[in-house]
Amino acid sequence: MSKEINSADLLSLCRRRGFIWPSFELYGGVAGMFDYGPLGSNMRNNIVEIWRDIYRGREGFIEIDSETVNPREVFKASGHVDEFADLITYCEECESAFRADHLVKEFFNNPDVLSQKELDEAFVKFGVKCPECGGKLGPVEEFNLMFKTSIGPGSSRVGYLRPETAQGIFVNYPNLYRYNREKLPLGVIQTGRGYRNEIAPRQGMIRMREFNMMEVELFVDPEDKGWVRFPDIENDPITLVPNTGTEALTMTVGEAVKNGIIANKVLAYFVYTTQQLLTRLGIDPKRLRFRQHLRDEMAHYAMDCWDAEVLLSYGWIEVTGVADRGCWDLSRHAEFSGTELTHFKKFDEPKEMEIDKIKAKHKALGPKFKERAKAIAEMMETRTPMDIKEGKLYLNLDGEEIILDDGFFEVVRVREKVSGERVVPHVIEPSHGLDRIFYSVLEHSFEHDEKEDYTVLKLLPEVAPIKVGIFPLMEKDGLDTFAMDIYRKVHSPRMEAYYDGSGTIGKRYARMDEVGTPWCITVDYESVEGPNKNTVTIRDRDTTAQKRIPVDSVPDVLRSMLYGRPFDDL
Ligand code: GLY
Repeated sequence: MSKEINSADLLSLCRRRGFIWPSFELYGGVAGMFDYGPLGSNMRNNIVEIWRDIYRGREGFIEIDSETVNPREVFKASGHVDEFADLITYCEECESAFRADHLVKEFFNNPDVLSQKELDEAFVKFGVKCPECGGKLGPVEEFNLMFKTSIGPGSSRVGYLRPETAQGIFVNYPNLYRYNREKLPLGVIQTGRGYRNEIAPRQGMIRMREFNMMEVELFVDPEDKGWVRFPDIENDPITLVPNTGTEALTMTVGEAVKNGIIANKVLAYFVYTTQQLLTRLGIDPKRLRFRQHLRDEMAHYAMDCWDAEVLLSYGWIEVTGVADRGCWDLSRHAEFSGTELTHFKKFDEPKEMEIDKIKAKHKALGPKFKERAKAIAEMMETRTPMDIKEGKLYLNLDGEEIILDDGFFEVVRVREKVSGERVVPHVIEPSHGLDRIFYSVLEHSFEHDEKEDYTVLKLLPEVAPIKVGIFPLMEKDGLDTFAMDIYRKVHSPRMEAYYDGSGTIGKRYARMDEVGTPWCITVDYESVEGPNKNTVTIRDRDTTAQKRIPVDSVPDVLRSMLYGRPFDDL
C-alpha cells in the first residue's frame, strides 16, 4: 500500500462516499464552503466527543454554547474590528483580488509578517504582476475578515458573525465565574461555527470561510501558571520548533519548561494535551510538531502562541493554536463595558497593605444629590479605582445611571488589613480548527494500493464514522433476518452499524475499507445450521484476519474493541 497521497483523490473519495460535499453545487458552488455529508457528520461528531472526553471529562471543564452573531461592541473591545485584517491587492486591469503575501511567497520565508509598505515595495522589486492577466497590481490595503451584518431591521445595530467562538466565553465571564463559585482555575469549552471572509480560500478544507472550531479557554491566576496534572506528563516527549531559529527539537515537556522554551507549565501542559488529542484522533506523531509564533506573527491578543502543525500533502499546516492571551480579553471587555472582570484572590492570612480607595466628597455630593447623596456615597465607596473610566465613575442607582467626575470623589492611599486582592485572570487558549483536524485525520489514514486500485482508510475505531458492517452472505435462507437482528442489537449513535446485503462479499468489504470501518460481521450458512450454529465471522480491516465468535458475544466484543481491546485478543 502506498502512503503517497494526492489531496484530489482523497477529496474525490470524500465526495463520492458522503464525507464532504462542496456547498451550493446546484448553483455553481462557492469557494471555501463545504457541507458535511452523513459519514462526515458522524466522523466530525466523533472527533468532538473525543475532545469533550478530554476537556469535560478528564480536565473537568464546563461547556457553553453562545451566539454566533455578536454586536459590534464585542469585536471593538476584542480588537477584531481594528486588527483582524489580511492585506489585499486588486489587479488594476481585471480587478481580481489577491492576498498580497501569497503573491511574494517565493521570495520570502515568512511573507505574512510583511507590512503594507514592504509588500508594495516587493511587488516593484520582484516585478510581481496579476497572476490572472499579467496586469499591474494596485496598492496593498487592509481587508477586515469579519462578515458584517445588522441586528434587527435596517442598520439599527451593527453586528458581525463571530470570527472565533472565544469571545462568547469572555463576555460571559461574570456568569461563568459565579457558576464556578468564584474560583480559579476556570476552564470553559465551546464548539461551533466561526466565520472569516477569506480573500482567497484554497487548499480544499484548509481555508474555509465558514468553519468549525473547538475552543478551550482556561482562566488562571496570572501568578500561578502551573497545572495540577503537570507531573503526570512532564517526562513525555514533544517536538518543538521555538521561534529562536533553531531546528525542530524533541525533548520532554518538563525540559521544555525548565529550559525556558515553553514559558510556563500550564501552557506546556495544554500544548501536550493538544498532542494527546491529535494522536488519539489518528494524526501520525511523526508528522506533528509544535511551532512557536514569531513575535510579529502573533495575533493581536496573544503574548505567546504554539501552533500544532501537521504535515499534509499541502505542506506543514496549522491545525491548532495554543495561545497565552494574557489579560488582553478580560481587560478590554472590562474597559469597554465598564464592568470589572476580575478574580478575588484570598490571601492565606489577612495582610496589612497600602491600597488605593475611592473616597466620596460629601460636600459636593450633598448639594447636588440631596437625599440620595448618602446612598451614592456608599455605593461609590464599594467601587475600586479600576472602575474609573477616563476620570469618571458610572453608577446605577435604582435603574438610573449616574456619572460622576472627580469633583465628587478622590482616590486616596490607605493602609489597611486586607483579606485578598483583585486580579485580572490570564487566559490560556487551545483553539482547534475542527475541519482542518478532520481533513488531516483523513489524510493520515488514507492508504491506496495503485496496483490493486484498492483504498483503505485506517481510521481509529473511536473516530470511524461506521464501526461495523453487518452482512448476510446471501440475502435469503434466513441469513438476512439473522444479520438484520444483529444490526438491530448493535446499532446506536456510538456504535454506528451498516447493513449491506448487495454485491459480492469482497465488494462489501471493499466498500467498508474505503470509508474506514474497522470491523465487519458476516452471517453465513454455518451461522444458522451445523456445529457452528449461532456463530458469525468478524473481520479486522487492517489485517483482513477473520475469527468466528458466538453471535451473543457480538455487542460486547464490539464495545470492548471500541475501547481498545486488540483483535488478536478475541
Ligand atoms: N481563538 C483563536 C483564533 O481565533 O484563532
